[in-house]
Amino acid sequence: MTTRRKFLAGASAGIALSTLPTIAQAQTPLAMPPLLDATKTGRFDLTAQSGSTNFLGQAASNTWGFNQPYLGPTLRVSHKNEVQARIKNTLDEEISVHWHGALVPGDVDGGPHQTVAPGAQWNPTLPINQPAATLWYHSHIHGHTGRHVQMGLAGVMQLSDGLDDQRGLPSLYGVDDLTLVLQDRRFDRRGRAEYSIGMHEQMMGFAGDTMLVNGQENTLATVPRGVVRLRLLNGSNARIYALALSDGRPMHLVASEAGLLDQPIALKQMTLAPGERAEVLVDFTNGRDVTLVTILSSNTSMSGPGSKSGAIILPFTVDPTLKPRITKLAKSLGGSLPQLPGTGLTRREFTLNSAMGGGMMRMMGNSGNLHSINGAPFDMATINFDVILGATERWVVAGGMMMHPFHIHGVSFQVLSENGGPPRLQNRGWKDTVLVNGQAELLMRFDLPASRELPYMYHCHILEHEDGGMMGQFTVS
Ligand code: C2O
Ligand code: CU
Ligand code: CU
Repeated sequence: MTTRRKFLAGASAGIALSTLPTIAQAQTPLAMPPLLDATKTGRFDLTAQSGSTNFLGQAASNTWGFNQPYLGPTLRVSHKNEVQARIKNTLDEEISVHWHGALVPGDVDGGPHQTVAPGAQWNPTLPINQPAATLWYHSHIHGHTGRHVQMGLAGVMQLSDGLDDQRGLPSLYGVDDLTLVLQDRRFDRRGRAEYSIGMHEQMMGFAGDTMLVNGQENTLATVPRGVVRLRLLNGSNARIYALALSDGRPMHLVASEAGLLDQPIALKQMTLAPGERAEVLVDFTNGRDVTLVTILSSNTSMSGPGSKSGAIILPFTVDPTLKPRITKLAKSLGGSLPQLPGTGLTRREFTLNSAMGGGMMRMMGNSGNLHSINGAPFDMATINFDVILGATERWVVAGGMMMHPFHIHGVSFQVLSENGGPPRLQNRGWKDTVLVNGQAELLMRFDLPASRELPYMYHCHILEHEDGGMMGQFTVS
C-alpha cells in the first residue's frame, strides 16, 4: 500500500523546503501518457471512452479518457501543417474537444457550441500554423467542463518543428523530455475519486488533497545525468501551484504557453495556474536527486483551511547508467518575445466578478450563476462583442478578491503590464492564459475568424468559475 502524497494542509505560507517529507517509499516509476505521433501521418484518432482507474491501489474509480481509461495520449503534430482529427464519442453524454492554445478558426476550435453527441463523430481539419509549443486539449461543455476534465477528458498536444536537436533542447519523449500533467484530486475513504461541488467549491474552485502526475499517485521519475526538459501542464480544476525544486536549484524557463522564449530565464519559483503550461530545463549534471514541490498553493486573498499548503509533486532520481544526450543548458532558443506593433486601437475592460455575501443571493436569484464578467454571467445565446479580423486590441482584465487565470481562445497575447508594472519574468513570453492577480493588461492581434454560430470564448480557467458563468464569447470577422 502506498503512502498518499498529500498536501500538508495548514502548513504556514512558504513552508521551509527542508520540512517537506523526504522520499522514502519505493515508488512506482512515473509513466508518460502514450505518445501519438501524427507529425508524419497528419492524422490522429481520439475516442472518448469510459473506464476504471485504480488511483491509490485501493478501489477502482469510474473515469473517462481518450483512447484509454483516464486522460488522453500526448498528441504530437507538426507546427505548420493541416492535421486531420477524428473524434469519436462513445460516452453517454455530449462532450467537446477544445484545442487549448491552438490558433485555429472558431469553426474547429471545439468550444461549447461544438458538441459531439453520444455515439457521434467529429472530424475537424486543424490548420495548424504557429511556433512549436506545448498545448493541451479538453472537453468544454458549458456547465460541465469541471466535471469532464476531472473525469479525465484532457491531454497534452505538442506542436513540433523538429528543430530541438539544433537548439540543444532535450526532445526524447519520456527520457529527457518529460510531459507532466499536474492535477489534484480528492478520494473517499475507500479510495475512489470524488468530485463533489458544494457552495465552497463553487466559490473557490475544487481543490483536492492528493497530487496526481499523469494520473498517477506517488511515483518517481528516473532521469539521465544531464539536462532534462519538463513540459508542465496545470490540468487541475482550480489549484494554483508555486513550483520549486527542493534543493533550491533553478528551473530554466524555456517556453511559455505559445512557444519558446529567446533565452532561458532562471527561476527559483514558478507559478502555474490552471490552464497554463511551461517548459523548463532542469540541470541534473551534478548527479543529485531532487524533488519538484509546490511550496505554496493558494488563492491568497481568501484565507481559510487549505489555502496555504505545500506538497511533493514529483521526486526525480538520477540513473548514472543512462547516457545523457544533453549536458549543457541551451543559451539561445530562437524564440522571440512578443512585441506587437501598435498599442491596440480598441481597449476593452473585463472585470471578473464572484458574488459574495448579499450580492451572491441577488445574483443567484436572477440567473443561478455565482460568477460573471462585467456583471454578466455567460449566456450561450449572447455574443458579448465583435472583433475586427486583423485588429490589435488591448484588454485590461481585473480580478476581485481572488486570483483568476484568464484565457482567450484563438489568440496568443503579450502581457503588457501587471498591476501597472512590468510583467513578472515568467510572463514575458507569448501566452494564452495568464494568472490575473489584481490587474493585467494584454495586447493581442486577432488573425483568425470566428462566427456567431461558433464564436471564441474568453474565461477564467478555474473550471468551477467558468462553469459558474465567468466566461464570455466573441466573434472575429
Ligand atoms: Cu482550456 Cu476555453 O479552455
Ligand atoms: Cu482555450
Ligand atoms: Cu476565477
